[in-house]
Amino acid sequence: MPRTEFIATGFHVPERVVTNDDLAQLMDTSDDWITQRSGIKTRHWVSDGETGVTLAREASCRALANARMEPSDLDCIVYCTCTPDHFEPGNGVFLERELGLTDIPAIDVRNQCSGFIYGLSVADAWIRTGQYQRVLLVGAEVHSRGLDKTKRGRDTAVLFGDGAGAAILGPTDDPRRGVLSTHLFADGRHAEKLWVDAPGLAHDPYVSEQLLHEGKHRAVMEGKEVFKFASILMPQSVAVALRANGLTPADITLLVPHQANLRIIEMVQKVTGLRDDQVYVNIQKYGNTTAASIPIALHEAVCAGRLARGDVLIFTAFGSGFTWASAAIRW
Ligand code: ACO
Repeated sequence: MPRTEFIATGFHVPERVVTNDDLAQLMDTSDDWITQRSGIKTRHWVSDGETGVTLAREASCRALANARMEPSDLDCIVYCTCTPDHFEPGNGVFLERELGLTDIPAIDVRNQCSGFIYGLSVADAWIRTGQYQRVLLVGAEVHSRGLDKTKRGRDTAVLFGDGAGAAILGPTDDPRRGVLSTHLFADGRHAEKLWVDAPGLAHDPYVSEQLLHEGKHRAVMEGKEVFKFASILMPQSVAVALRANGLTPADITLLVPHQANLRIIEMVQKVTGLRDDQVYVNIQKYGNTTAASIPIALHEAVCAGRLARGDVLIFTAFGSGFTWASAAIRW
């Protein structure tokens, strides 16, 4: 059975940069508070005319160009997002349309911060079994339009940013390379600890003035609980990935964690026992871009020459659900 390799990557963020000081003009917050608690200095927000799908299209076109491929070379799209442009259909078909394609499958993966690794797991299974050969895997989010930019929502509003990352995946016959394993986890007992309640068909009517008035359409989070579980479960997922492949922390060339919060990443690094140069961090520039954060960080790491053929790359993520996941890749 072939393994899945990353043929090329790409990413795109909106041009508009929003600093912590900009946020302090909108709500009762400060650069000091945001920097100390999260490490974030700036994030990118969409402007008029931009959507998750337009960001995903740009990231995908860059990945395709880096792969020297055309959209017509693709035979499947896996689109990971928790901030879809519309209630239905999913963003995958809109991206397919933007790429000028009409006859390949497009699946949406709704696993929030773990979305990219869940999507990778799906794509990897299809590639290894030969169902699809060239898969476009995208993580893209537009958080900015959904944030509560008042004091009520400031604990979450300062953390999230918009952006998209993409990877082109395909089979390799080289047994020493490619995706070694993916491990996926979920525990729905914590579903309401980080969620957007409405609009949703659990409500009748599923959208109403009252729901909007109560802010049920905003992401709300029990920040301390999220922090506590992420700090335990992300390192555990890394340990599972290492154990499954007979690796140790010393074997890791690069850990690309979901960029949730610098303090969480530091905790993962400490518990796993990694040096600074083994962990890729870019949250200071982009904030938390959920399903887009790993592919954006991966593309930057590749461009910065942080990965060479044969290196061990580990992904780990944790987020709403709770869901968490890891992947081990030999580059
Ligand atoms: N600016 C200024 N003050 C704020 C802000 C803000 N943006 N947000 C909250 N505060 C205030 C609170 O109102 C509170 O004030 P009070 O003491 O007068 O009541 C004070 O700061 C402390 O609030 P806490 O919620 O206790 O702050 P905490 O130290 O827990 O930090 C934070 C909050 C940063 C959200 C933290 O809990 C955290 O990092 N959680 C992890 C959340 C995360 O990373 N989520 C990302 C999504 S999930 C994922 O990707 C894994």
